[in-house]
Amino acid sequence: MFRNQRVKGNSRFPRYGLLYRRARRPETARAARGKDRLLEKTGKIFVAGHRGMVGSAILRGLLAEGYRNVVTRGKKELDLRDTRAVSGFFSEEKPEYVFLAAARVGGIMANMESPGEFLYDNLMIQSNVIHQSHLAGVKKVCFLGSSCIYPRECPQPMREEYLMTGKLEPTNEGYAVAKLAGVKMMECYRRQYGLKGVSPIPCNLYGTNDSFDPRSAHVLSSLVRKFVDAVDTGEGEVTVWGTGVARREFLHVDDLADAVVFLMTHPDPPEIINVGSGFDVTIRELAAMVARAAGFGGKLHWDASKPDGMPRKCLDVARMTGLGFRPRIGLEEGIGRTVAEYRERKKGTGKP
Ligand SMILES: NC(=O)c1ccc[n+]([C@@H]2O[C@H](COP(=O)([O-])OP(=O)(O)OC[C@H]3O[C@@H](n4cnc5c(N)ncnc54)[C@H](OP(=O)(O)O)[C@@H]3O)[C@@H](O)[C@H]2O)c1
Repeated sequence: MFRNQRVKGNSRFPRYGLLYRRARRPETARAARGKDRLLEKTGKIFVAGHRGMVGSAILRGLLAEGYRNVVTRGKKELDLRDTRAVSGFFSEEKPEYVFLAAARVGGIMANMESPGEFLYDNLMIQSNVIHQSHLAGVKKVCFLGSSCIYPRECPQPMREEYLMTGKLEPTNEGYAVAKLAGVKMMECYRRQYGLKGVSPIPCNLYGTNDSFDPRSAHVLSSLVRKFVDAVDTGEGEVTVWGTGVARREFLHVDDLADAVVFLMTHPDPPEIINVGSGFDVTIRELAAMVARAAGFGGKLHWDASKPDGMPRKCLDVARMTGLGFRPRIGLEEGIGRTVAEYRERKKGTGKP
C-alpha cells in the first residue's frame, strides 16, 4: 500500500491521535502550550529544497495530509547561501514553519572531491535559514541532520548521546562538520532565543527523486543504475566500489517524510532524534538484492582500491519507536520500486 492511501483506523502512529487530542483541549496551560507547538493546517510552511529527494517527499507528505499553505523556492530563484536574499524572502513570505531539506548532498566520490564546497554551502544554507527563522519568529523549524555526523568508530547501534564523542569519517568530514554545526545551532538557538524545532538524523535514504548521476549518487541508487544499465546493455560484469563489507542502514524517503511530518506535529519531540529502519546490511548483501531486483545474473567485481567509508552505520531508533513511529516500506520492496522508477526515468528521457 502506498503512503498516501492511508486507511482510517490503520494508522502507523498509534499514539499520535491521543497526543493531538490532548493538545487541543483548551482547559490547561500545558495543553495550550502543546497546541502552540503543533503544525497548524493553515499555517504557512516553507519547504526548503522541495525539488530534492527529501524535500519533494516532505512536500508530497504535507499535501497528502491536507497542508495547503506551502511556499517553495528553487535554488535558481533563491540561493539559500545568500544572506540578503534569504532575509528578503523571510520578510516577504513570513513563513510560520520551516522544513530545511536544502543542502549540498552527495555520495562518497563527490564528498572526497569537494570537501570545501560541502562545508561552505551547508554552513551558509543552514546558518541563513535558521537565523532568519529566529528573526522572523518562525514557530518551529525542522533541520535535517545525517547519520554521517556520528564518529567513525562509534559504538553500534548509534545512540543520539554518542554525537561528538570521537573523530569523524575523513571521506565526508566537510559535510559532517557542517551538519553537526547545524544540529548545534538548533540547540543553541533554542537555549538562547527559544526557537522551537527538531533535528531528525536520518540513516542512508533512497527512493523517489533520488539522483542516479554517477558523480553525486549515493550507494543504493548507484547500484540500481549499474545493474539496470548492465541488463539493458547486456554487460556480463558490474564493478562496485570498495570491498562490500561495510554495513549500512537504509530508509525509503517516503518513510522519512512521514517521520519528519510526524515529529513536526508532535507536541514535544526530542530535539535530536535518529530516524531509520534500525537494521543494517552489508554492501555485498545490498548489491545482491539490487542485482536480483534488476534481473542481473552476471558477475560482480569488487574494486577494493576504492574506500569503503565508515565500517558500520546503524542507528539506534529507540527514541522514534518510543514515540510510536515505525517505517512501513521494507528494503526489498523499496529497492523494487526504485528499480522501476529508474526504468521509467530512462524510458521517459532516453537517459537517466
Ligand atoms: N540523501 C540521503 O541519503 C540523506 C541521508 C541523511 C540526511 N539527508 C539530508 O536530507 C537533506 C536533503 O537531502 P536530499 O537527499 O534530498 O538532497 P538532494 O536531492 O540533493 O536535494 C537538495 C536540495 O537542496 C537544494 N539546494 C542545494 N543547494 C541550494 C542552495 N544553495 N540554495 C537553495 N537550495 C539549494 C536543491 O535545490 P534545486 O533542486 O533547486 O537545485 C535541492 O532541492 C539534506 O539536509 C541531507 O543532509 C539526506
